[in-house]
Amino acid sequence: MKATQPMRSKVGLSVILGAIALLSLTSWSLKGAEVDPNQLKFPQQYDSWQATEDQVERDDILAQYPANIILWAGSSFAKEYHSPRGHQFAVADVTHTLRTGVAIAEGDKGLSASCWTCKTPDAPRLIKEMGIQGFSGANFVDLGREIKSVVYCSDCHLDGSAKLALPRPHAQDAMAKIKLPFDKQNHTMQGAQVCGQCHVSYYFQPENNNKVNIPWIFGSTADEIEKYYDTRRFYEWIHPISKTPILKARHPEFEHWSRSAHAKQGVTCITCHMPPATDEKGATFTDHKVGGALDNFDRSCANCHSSKAGITKKLDKTKATIDAKARHVESLLIKAHYEAKAAWDAGATWAQMNDAIMAIRHSQWRWDFATASHGMYAHNPKEGIELLDKSTEQVTYAREVLARILSQMSVTEVEYPDYSTKEKAHAAIGFVEADAMKAKHAFIQQEVDKYWHPVAKTGYSVSE
Ligand code: HEC
Ligand code: HEC
Ligand code: HEC
Ligand code: HEC
Repeated sequence: MKATQPMRSKVGLSVILGAIALLSLTSWSLKGAEVDPNQLKFPQQYDSWQATEDQVERDDILAQYPANIILWAGSSFAKEYHSPRGHQFAVADVTHTLRTGVAIAEGDKGLSASCWTCKTPDAPRLIKEMGIQGFSGANFVDLGREIKSVVYCSDCHLDGSAKLALPRPHAQDAMAKIKLPFDKQNHTMQGAQVCGQCHVSYYFQPENNNKVNIPWIFGSTADEIEKYYDTRRFYEWIHPISKTPILKARHPEFEHWSRSAHAKQGVTCITCHMPPATDEKGATFTDHKVGGALDNFDRSCANCHSSKAGITKKLDKTKATIDAKARHVESLLIKAHYEAKAAWDAGATWAQMNDAIMAIRHSQWRWDFATASHGMYAHNPKEGIELLDKSTEQVTYAREVLARILSQMSVTEVEYPDYSTKEKAHAAIGFVEADAMKAKHAFIQQEVDKYWHPVAKTGYSVSE
């Protein structure tokens, strides 16, 4: 708390500026002509929070790395997958992606509302109203009309104050599991934990109505999480090509950071992504335009690192090393999936295949845990390299076992797919993007454009 006290009193001075800032309000935040009290009270934080709307750029990961389409075949990740962008797009992007909502077919349960959990403060609100299982058991589309805000003040603060908070029950539980209960942490760790509510690996618990759970009972490393999943015999889906029971990692930024050299120095997500800024009057406030860390080198890094060029060069080099390893593992994993398919097609039994299939599962898990973490090369390059090396070892073992099985069964040729482009990889797994887009457009026109809050459309023109 020590750090915020002086800042808070300075912020108090800028209330007058808030009145000026009112003039520049955009229409959607003025819904019903009501002014957000947080904007009046904390204009600098509010305006910088809103400015994440400038961060429009994102990469089409499936176009960049079409191999991912084959590795994620059988799941919605193979349909569309983009890198993250500004917090203001959180609701619109999850609404528009091919991974979520189209009209639900009769008798189909559709996707769990749990997908809303990390996009909006309306999720913790609805969890309170409906109960955790009532919320997660509801449908993503059915709750769409309830969603009125993107990642917001109350996702990280006690409403209306600067005090940090963790409103998501699954995050409270998870931090307790790794012996870092939120209420007992200092201000620095609490700052990282508010990000760790969402920038963390999770899964939906099938036996609990698809409730969000962070699988940290044994700890938060790839090995410990894998042990948790293996002992529960959990899988996300059965891979349609190799029949592997797949594990899916989701952006474990908190996990990777927590074991980094920076974390040991007390450098957190906040140091690098929300550095201090100064307003026109010279008062200091925390920049809430959460975005690229290097964009603000002077405020984020320069206290400890003197040369931006030097750090950038080092980061580029680490990124290239990790990227090369990731691409290599992907190519081996694809071969393994198709070699397994050839063995099944030739009549192999589970007794023969078990070792190879488990090695594919474990290898793909580590590859995913490394690559699904955005900014791994900056957050914890050492762990990234170790994960990918182990992943390579495991898939190599899988392929050795498969080679023996194939030779026993006199299979001499295996057909591998062409995944040189996104289109070709989609064709290889039988996904027709144009059809999925048509269904999505119809859903957007008939439901989202008519009935959902404007935040569901930020960055998208109507009927896009
Ligand atoms: C994603 C999490 C997050 C969101 C969203 C967020 N804050 Fe913060 N905020 C923080 C963190 C973390 C700090 C503390 C930074 C520090 O002291 O290390 C902070 C600090 C503050 C402070 C203390 C003064 C300062 O600038 O350091 C105020 C006031 C504040 N936030 C207001 C707001 C308001 C108003 C909103 C909504 C418009 C908001 N915050 C949204 C994470 C968030
Ligand atoms: C309530 C969930 C939630 C919280 C809390 C949260 N984020 Fe995010 N964050 C997201 C989502 C969702 C996206 C992706 C939005 C999109 O692409 O539409 C994102 C995107 C980002 C990006 C990418 C921005 C860009 O322009 O590329 C960064 C960096 C980031 N978050 C850092 C943080 C940090 C640091 C914190 C803590 C201060 C934090 N986030 C807290 C959900 C959250
Ligand atoms: C030592 C500084 C540092 C720390 C600490 C740090 N990050 Fe980062 N982060 C970076 C850098 C550098 C990148 C690479 C892209 C960039 O320049 O921002 C990055 C990338 C990201 C991205 C991907 C952005 C994108 O558009 O692809 C997210 C999300 C993110 N960080 C979230 C977090 C979270 C959450 C934490 C804390 C758990 C954290 N970071 C801790 C420096 C840091
Ligand atoms: C409070 C001080 C501090 C801040 C702020 C800080 N760093 Fe560091 N950083 C360190 C220390 C200390 C090390 C050396 C860790 C080690 O090698 O044990 C380090 C190491 C690094 C390394 C080398 C890691 C490796 O692979 O050896 C990179 C790259 C880096 N920092 C980038 C950044 C970036 C980018 C930012 C700002 C977004 C940043 N740091 C902010 C203290 C800091």
